[in-house]
Amino acid sequence: MDRLHITGGTPLNGRIHVSGAKNSALKLMVTCLLTDQPVELTNMPNLADTRFLAQLLETLGVEVYWPKGSSTCHLNAAELKSTIAPYEQVRKMRASFNVLGPLIARSGHATVSLPGGCAIGARPVDLHLKALEAMGADLRVEGGYVKAAAIHGLTGAHINFSTVSVGATEHAMLTATLAKGETILENAAREPEIEDLANCLNSMGANVTGAGTPIIRIKGVEALKGTTYAVMPDRIEAGTYAMAAAGAGGDVTLDGCPVAALGAMISKLREAGVTIDADEAASTLRIRRNGSPLKAVSLSTQPHPGFPTDLQAQFMALMCTAEGTSIIRETIFENRFMHAPELSRLGADITVRGQEAVVKGVHHLTAAPVMATDLRASVSLVIAALGARGETVVNRIYHLDRGFERLEAKLGACGAKIERRSGEDE
Ligand code: EPZ
Repeated sequence: MDRLHITGGTPLNGRIHVSGAKNSALKLMVTCLLTDQPVELTNMPNLADTRFLAQLLETLGVEVYWPKGSSTCHLNAAELKSTIAPYEQVRKMRASFNVLGPLIARSGHATVSLPGGCAIGARPVDLHLKALEAMGADLRVEGGYVKAAAIHGLTGAHINFSTVSVGATEHAMLTATLAKGETILENAAREPEIEDLANCLNSMGANVTGAGTPIIRIKGVEALKGTTYAVMPDRIEAGTYAMAAAGAGGDVTLDGCPVAALGAMISKLREAGVTIDADEAASTLRIRRNGSPLKAVSLSTQPHPGFPTDLQAQFMALMCTAEGTSIIRETIFENRFMHAPELSRLGADITVRGQEAVVKGVHHLTAAPVMATDLRASVSLVIAALGARGETVVNRIYHLDRGFERLEAKLGACGAKIERRSGEDE
């Protein structure tokens, strides 16, 4: 199993190019199921998760041409050979569940495994299922699988989500594009990835309006055509490198950065004393911190445009050595503080009380072997290690490979002392 060896204390200086967004790419890939024409996605991130979804699509009969290392992925679902998404595949990557609605829309039936729980929380899919039922799908849960059919086709529906859910909003949007009549989604998620999905669907001939607002309208069409579409840049990857620069100090510019999608993070970093030059037109974000300590800042995660849960762990890593006490509230997932005990191994002073973590800034962190159980928690340990004294070993980095493209190369190019090694955990 690979691990990272990181020697802290070196400021980061240089430029980092932001890759395509994992959480957008995973939904954009699924659009291919809605058409018998080719879908070509550019700016695709080469990640374990996107490669994994490509394998599931192949299982369903999609022809996938995506050479190793290439950022262009060709998907052709001219003919589907299966409408079954097996447990082994959905369990490993929850976004696979989003094939359910598109398969029903395309083939009239589908059998897709329920994803089960996950390290950061229970993560039920009840809202996904309610939305599909409202559109006329007949659903049964049997042996851990959702067995779905819509013998008379899907019809538009008025769906009011009881909780804001990114996945359920996207799933309903994908499915409604081919339903008869109009679907209205209320209390829809407003994440930038939702707008990206709407833009891609519209480029295929769909009629989606209102994405990015709480009310999305989808007028169903007879058929969708193929498209060539560029995946939006990854706001979470960008935010992570911004925090790495803020933590280690130095002067880093992010190129191809989705500046407008990062408002909440930028204002929290400025509050903490980090100098940030944001240029939306040029898509660059320059992050500078020279010597001065960070100030403690409190925050609460919120659906977009609030502070994203996917940057909470990274921000906590920064607050470990800030001056003062910061209170970090996680409101999206019920178990998303697994990084706290690992950060404590590096000398952080963190007390977790339910959904709240109290972080008392210490003078410095000291290296130790650490590991984490999810993607963003793992990268928070990398951020902490870059500012810690000594050599930290971050174990189980397969979590990082799910969501960060060439992480050690990107940080290494800015001067970070970071090296990937294979072998047993340390
Ligand atoms: C997406 O997950 C992202 N994943 C997550 O990123 C991200 O943390 C999350 O949105 C919130 O921004 C992908 O896009 C692949 P939700 P998703 O449905 O869609 C509850 C990462 O690290 N809920 O918005 O699964 C749910 O339990 C990942 O890249 C229901 O109760 O998140 C949670 O508490 C982790 N019933 C809340 O809603 C449902 O049917 C928000 O979840 C669906 C969700």
